[in-house]
Amino acid sequence: MAERQSIHGQWSSRLIFILAATGSAVGLGNVWKFPYITGENGGGAFVIIYLLCIAVVGIPIMMAEVMLGRRGRQSPINTMTTLSAEEGASREWSLVGWSGVLAGFLILSYYSVIAGWALAYVVRAATGGFGGVDASGVQSLFNDLVGDPERLMAWHTLFMLMTMFVVAKGVKAGLEKAVTYLMPALFILLVVLVGYAMNTGFFTQGLDFLFTPDFYKLLHSCQVVDGVEQCEVSGSPILVAMGHAFFTLSLGMGAIMVYGSYMPKKASIAGSAILIGLLDTLVALVAGMAIFPIVFANGLEPGAGPGLIFQTLPIAFGAMPGGQFFGTLFFVLLVFAAWSSAISLIEPAVAWLVENRNMTRIRAAVWLGLVTWVLGLGTVFSFNIWSDVKFFDKTFFDLLDYLTANIMLPLGGLLIAIFSGWLMKKESSRDEFAMRPAGYSIWWTLIRYISPLAVIVVFLNAIGIL
Ligand code: PHE
Repeated sequence: MAERQSIHGQWSSRLIFILAATGSAVGLGNVWKFPYITGENGGGAFVIIYLLCIAVVGIPIMMAEVMLGRRGRQSPINTMTTLSAEEGASREWSLVGWSGVLAGFLILSYYSVIAGWALAYVVRAATGGFGGVDASGVQSLFNDLVGDPERLMAWHTLFMLMTMFVVAKGVKAGLEKAVTYLMPALFILLVVLVGYAMNTGFFTQGLDFLFTPDFYKLLHSCQVVDGVEQCEVSGSPILVAMGHAFFTLSLGMGAIMVYGSYMPKKASIAGSAILIGLLDTLVALVAGMAIFPIVFANGLEPGAGPGLIFQTLPIAFGAMPGGQFFGTLFFVLLVFAAWSSAISLIEPAVAWLVENRNMTRIRAAVWLGLVTWVLGLGTVFSFNIWSDVKFFDKTFFDLLDYLTANIMLPLGGLLIAIFSGWLMKKESSRDEFAMRPAGYSIWWTLIRYISPLAVIVVFLNAIGIL
């Protein structure tokens, strides 16, 4: 087969692919979402299930996405069309690409609003807003922000503009260099925060919460009411853990597939995917180790929800020496991490518009940005004027998050696993991976049996069948 080339260009090396994909993976999912859903789902047992999902579902599916992308060398929609024709499968497999485009757009709409919180906190930190703040002060800071639709809208607008700017310029020219320095810097700052957490006197309690499994707490959500702990059976914690494995690794919607389509031919897919998975997991765990000791030291609620990091970390910055500097830097770096994820959420759609509608990247970015911005207003209002508007007992934001992370991404991942393990000829995937036979057999067993089965079992469990 003559080798296909991507019309959008190629990463200049394997390292750049790894940086870009890590930039996509590491984002608000690690620093913002992982701690708060871990807090809501009782800690250690949730973390174990999440780690298991990363290993047996996430990494094999990441390898599959990169492999398909690199073989197809187009937007996920067209890659799936081309590969299904080549492999003698139905054209309808391009639906995987379509659902990915939709999921990316839905996720970006709320992702941008949360990234806007981080932007607002950059200014807060830089102007000394955290100095000596206590737990209740930091809570009112947060409530004031999310209660104000105009401010949220302004920050959401700024973040969408930043995203559109890079997407218009082209991902490769855009964030490539920034990611090289800023990601390691974010990691170092998280380690500084762990250092602070060690001095709170509650470090062991935090670690205990994060790493000692308590399956009762996973399956029940408990609240202390008037000094008495009250517990009820919780929603679908296992599905949430699995959904988060997809979300945090940017899987199931074509982001990693489209990045794979820009990957040089000779680079090792397996090694890259394992490394990206490890780095992403490390960042999440370190964020958790920084946050939970602060939660316990200040008598805060681990299950406080989406505001958790915004209601805990400022206490640390307010108390530590140099906190104004570290606090500003931290939120700047968090914005960068979110930025490099946001561009990958929209890249599959941009690539398709360029390929099929003959649009320039600039036009594609502007149109997509506009539509995403409008939808994002729903999330903006769900924290204030629409906070009582519930669908299935969830706010607009909660519903979007649940629908995308827990349903659309795992479903997309399941289809990708079935396509690569059952429909694609073994020779094709083996040829694309070009790895040692033993490694290939492990991947093949995982993608054909274990990963799809795990996703199906978790889905059935969530709807009460298993
Ligand atoms: N992985 C990103 C994060 O953890 C979010 C993301 C999901 C990005 C899906 C792209 C695709 O923040």
